[in-house]
Amino acid sequence: MPESDATRVSRHPAKSTNDVYATGDDGVSISGIWKTFTTRNERTVAVQDINLQIRRGQFVTIIGPSGCGKSTLLRIVAGLLSPDCGSVSIFGETVSHAAESKHIGFVPQTPALLPWRTVTENVQLPLQVNKYSTSGGDGRQSDPRELLESFGLGAVLDRRPHELSGGMQQRVAIARAFVFDPMILLMDEPFSALDEFTREAQRRGLLELWQSNQKTVLFITHSVAEAVELSDVIVVMSPQPGRIQAVIPVDLPRPRGNLVENSDPFHAVEVAIRRELRRNWNQPE
Ligand SMILES: Nc1ncnc2c1ncn2[C@@H]1O[C@H](COP(=O)(O)OP(=O)(O)OP(=O)(O)O)[C@@H](O)[C@H]1O
Ligand SMILES: [Mg+2]
Repeated sequence: MPESDATRVSRHPAKSTNDVYATGDDGVSISGIWKTFTTRNERTVAVQDINLQIRRGQFVTIIGPSGCGKSTLLRIVAGLLSPDCGSVSIFGETVSHAAESKHIGFVPQTPALLPWRTVTENVQLPLQVNKYSTSGGDGRQSDPRELLESFGLGAVLDRRPHELSGGMQQRVAIARAFVFDPMILLMDEPFSALDEFTREAQRRGLLELWQSNQKTVLFITHSVAEAVELSDVIVVMSPQPGRIQAVIPVDLPRPRGNLVENSDPFHAVEVAIRRELRRNWNQPE
């Protein structure tokens, strides 16, 4: 199938994506990021020369094969991991290693809940670390109990993580990311452990929140359809070492839920993404 208007793919084997989505100080700027891990005698170049500009309010999704460096990149953007070189700035401020920014809501790939704390206490943790009231109400932060109820977890507020299903744990981790009403959400496969119906509801909730509150979202998924339903822009990464292989804008009207099953333009974007992913593996189209 030829690439249509809905699938204008910018391929980026070379250095920069900066001219595609210029942002200045008003977005997220990822410049020249490299990260290598060394374990025993082995060196792994996890990400290589990542350049990406995200406008404030954009919903950008990263998709790519397992091990290509998606989580590494997200952790660097969150300030949880320092790059070997390169820099990240968010709304004009440089992100430093170990940054604990209240503007960033980070949902890790695994929920990372503290096992000895209850569900409510886990969501209260970022407030306590930042010395805020744990009941909300004095600033942008939410009441953890109300927040958890809005995520459908009102019945398990006082349980410990091991008493929850994997999907419930994942929802607690998502709720925790919202406790400061962050301006930017960094979400690493947040819905992967959820059943299809809960996943759909969570997607809808995220889109409502994104649209009504003008969040900027950087999202990781392995689901091509999920990427197309949610995103303004999809970034395809190549296998290790992870580089930006293609940037695909999604110019489809919203909401897209009803486009998923019976729309040619929706499928055209899916095809463009799959074509890029297949290119990774040198498979015939
Ligand atoms: N702390 C670490 N120490 C050593 N190697 C690491 C570390 N973190 C990641 N890696 C390696 O870096 C590469 C990229 O890992 P990363 O977790 O970013 O991949 P990913 O794209 O998120 O994969 P997945 O889709 O499976 O979650 C992998 O080869 C991984 O083994
Ligand atoms: Mg990952």
